Amino acid sequence: MDSLRGKKILFGVTGSIAAFKAAGWVHSLVKEEAGVSVIMTWAATRFVSELTFSALSGNTVYTDMFADDPEQAMAHITLAQEADIVLVAPATAHTIARLALGMADDLLSTSVLAASGKPVVICPAMNSRMYEHKATQDNLLRLKELDYIIVEPDSGRLACGDEGPGRLPDWAGVREILLECMSSHDLEGQHVLITAGPTREPLDPVRYLSNRSSGKMGYALARTAKRRGAQVTLISGPVCLEPPEGVKVISVTTAEEMYKEVMQNRDNASVIIKAAAVADFRPDQYEFHKIKKQAAELSVNLVKNDDILAELGRSRKEGQFIVGFAAESRDLEEEGKRKLLAKNADLVVVNDISKTESGFDVDTNQVTIISQDGTIHLPLMSKEKTADQIWDNVLFRLEME
Ligand code: PMT
Repeated sequence: MDSLRGKKILFGVTGSIAAFKAAGWVHSLVKEEAGVSVIMTWAATRFVSELTFSALSGNTVYTDMFADDPEQAMAHITLAQEADIVLVAPATAHTIARLALGMADDLLSTSVLAASGKPVVICPAMNSRMYEHKATQDNLLRLKELDYIIVEPDSGRLACGDEGPGRLPDWAGVREILLECMSSHDLEGQHVLITAGPTREPLDPVRYLSNRSSGKMGYALARTAKRRGAQVTLISGPVCLEPPEGVKVISVTTAEEMYKEVMQNRDNASVIIKAAAVADFRPDQYEFHKIKKQAAELSVNLVKNDDILAELGRSRKEGQFIVGFAAESRDLEEEGKRKLLAKNADLVVVNDISKTESGFDVDTNQVTIISQDGTIHLPLMSKEKTADQIWDNVLFRLEME
């Protein structure tokens, strides 16, 4: 799953100053075309008005268990039944305590109980001493026992001036958790090793040889695998992307460093995907001082880097599934088949880099998946959707073995 589009989110807001941040989250959800129904506790309405949440969600905001309006009267049951997921953010110490006891004394707590069997995600936000108090920690443990998903708060300066844990985290990480809750966990039990991004081959302290890889394709593979339940290790060249939530990230710079880390981490991997654009060559020597421009000409000798994918294919561990990528601008299928054989891979994913919306440094990709028993052409789509299709293919083949 690569989007919350069309999903129904029951969003509980409780009485914390962080309620204003929740308004931004509702806005993000609606922008993504999710359906959002907001329940506010009485205390929440003291921080942010109902009008703000109804304007942002485009829906009625629910506050009252005993409303006269017949639409509101059974809201605790209907909202819970219709929801795909329940998100309580910010969740105060008071609400956490009531949920831990299974109380049903207002619309939010009643709805959470009525959502039994659906994923419930709780984002605590409060003063750090309240958060660290044994009572709150015991209540959070109890919620975990009840299979509620607890999102750790961020640490930092709090609205009250104290420093410590208790801040509502960024939306991107919470969105990732919602996606994970609603994805099928068909990669559970798989340990996947993914490489992403470019490598940099230094010439001197200032300059290096590299390529246009942004890491987006490899990171999309890591995020989607994590959502689908895999244990993920990501070996990444230098990129400007946020590390995916819950993924072990190992940062490298050069092809030689990537080689070393891949070899050190490959033994436990059931699936290895080499989406990195590894430099084929590096300067044969590194100048420790900046190269001066006085000379009219400068020649650089390049030496070949070891081919990591070829080495993985040559010395593959038993049962390991290996996927290579190929960035090609012509003869896509022929080049893909040649690399499949030359590198002893199970699949090669060929990107068409002749198109501006596919390949390097864009959010979309158009790929052809090549294996011994055939070729699959995928349409142009987001890198996350492409990643999900690659995983579907990998899984299909793993299940056939
Ligand atoms: O990062 P993005 O901006 O999202 O762009 C994605 C991408 C275009 C970089 C990615 O989808 C991709 O195609 N990655 C592989 C690019 C590449 O290096 O292709 P290649 O044909 O040169 O290499 C073939 C395979 O051998 C690749 O799996 C590569 O990781 C591997 N290789 C290459 C050289 C080397 N020394 N060691 C390797 O392991």
